[in-house]
This record gives sequence, C-alpha cells and structure tokens, in this order.
Amino acid sequence: MGNDINFLRNVSIFEELPERDLEKIAKLGTRKKFSKGNIILMEDEIGSALFIIINGKVKVSRLDETGREAVLSILGPGEVFGEMSLLDGMKRSATCSALTDTEVLIIYRDDFLNLLHKYPQISISLLKELAQRLRKANMQIKSLSLKDAEGRVGCVLILLADELGKMYKGQVIVEEIPTQQDLANMAGTSRETVSRVMTKFEKQGLIKVEGRKLIILEYEKMKQMFK
Ligand code: CMP
Repeated sequence: MGNDINFLRNVSIFEELPERDLEKIAKLGTRKKFSKGNIILMEDEIGSALFIIINGKVKVSRLDETGREAVLSILGPGEVFGEMSLLDGMKRSATCSALTDTEVLIIYRDDFLNLLHKYPQISISLLKELAQRLRKANMQIKSLSLKDAEGRVGCVLILLADELGKMYKGQVIVEEIPTQQDLANMAGTSRETVSRVMTKFEKQGLIKVEGRKLIILEYEKMKQMFK
C-alpha cells in the first residue's frame, strides 16, 4: 500500500489532498496489470470503475464497422480514464487498451462518486482535467478538418509532446513513441505519409528520431506552426 500512496501524489486529480486522505484512497483501489496490446475497457460497455495509470501508456480509440481505428488520445502515468460513463451514466465512449505493459489502480463507481462528494477539490481537479482534454480535442478537430497531412502529423507530435514528453533544455523528449500506424490513426492519414512527413521534419531540423525515442528539437517553433 505504501507504494500506492507515493504514486497517488502524482495523480493530477488528487494533487490537493493531504497524506492521510491519500492513504484512505489507496485502500479503496485495486492494482491490476495489463500486458501490451490488452484491452482494459471496451467502447459501449457499461462503466463500473475508474482507472488511474500507475505506469505504462494507454491508447484511447474508437473503431468503425470495417475495423479502422481512430486514436483519440494516448494517456500516461498519473492520468485517469473511465470517468465519463461514471459521471453521465452512459456507455463507455471509447476503447482503452494498453499501449505498453501497463499497471492501473481501479476504483469502483460508488467509491469514486463518494470521493467526489466528500472532497470538492477532487471534483475541481477533475473538471480542470476534462477542460484540458476538451482543449486538446478542439485542437485535433481543427487539425483534422483544416490542415493537410503534414499539418495533422505536426499537430499529433505536439499533442504527444504535451501529453507524454519531458522538457529538457528547450527540447521535448518522448520515450517510446507510438508506432507509425498509431500515429497515422491519430492524424487520420496513412503510415506511409507519417513516415514521409517525419523524415521531412528531421531534414528541417525540427525533430530527431532515435529508435523509439522522439526528440522535438524545436518545440516552440513546431507549436507555432501546428497547434
Ligand atoms: P469512459 O467513456 O467511461 O470510457 C472510455 C474513456 O476514454 C472515457 O471514459 C475517458 O476517460 C477516455 N476518453 C474518451 N475520449 C477521450 C479523449 N478525447 N481524450 C482523452 N480521453 C478520452
């Protein structure tokens, strides 16, 4: 349980809470591991729990009837998912799967709703988190409806940097970027186009790719260009 408390200190929706309250929350949760590729929750299921990412990355996506995938977001440690259907009582709005080996803390519906009633700070932090998600979704809608493929790939790289990257001396490092197919499914384009555009960005000195590591060399410039 001690570890749970350490990890809860970095969960955005619990950031205002004192130690003794984090201890109580840790006792409510159940830890569970998912291997890379496993589905954690499915679109259209009834929602019964909230998930907090302890470590790993989670892909949020929707599929069409032909099996094509739109990737809505990629979430990392300290972020929550599965809150929407607990709040509005509707079915799961998307499928969430483990993009890497992932460990989560599961808090069941009634316990989560009790927490929201008991600690108004959690509700406010959750609203902040949802507002940030709406901003990102707005950025994606603009990008998908108004930009060409290069602009859409650029926008996806900025979203990834903001979501998963670590800032270091003006550069942003994203360890283990998603596959080019997942990036394509975020940008609404093909894997080949992602590959071509990323090579172009590398030649322009905007990014550097080292294996699965992405270094955004010109973060501010790319933000101006693509947000
Ligand atoms: P819920 O609808 O219960 O189950 C799917 C979850 O995916 C949802 O709650 C949110 O936590 C998450 N989700 C859905 N859409 C997005 C999005 N656009 N960005 C980030 N997370 C999302």
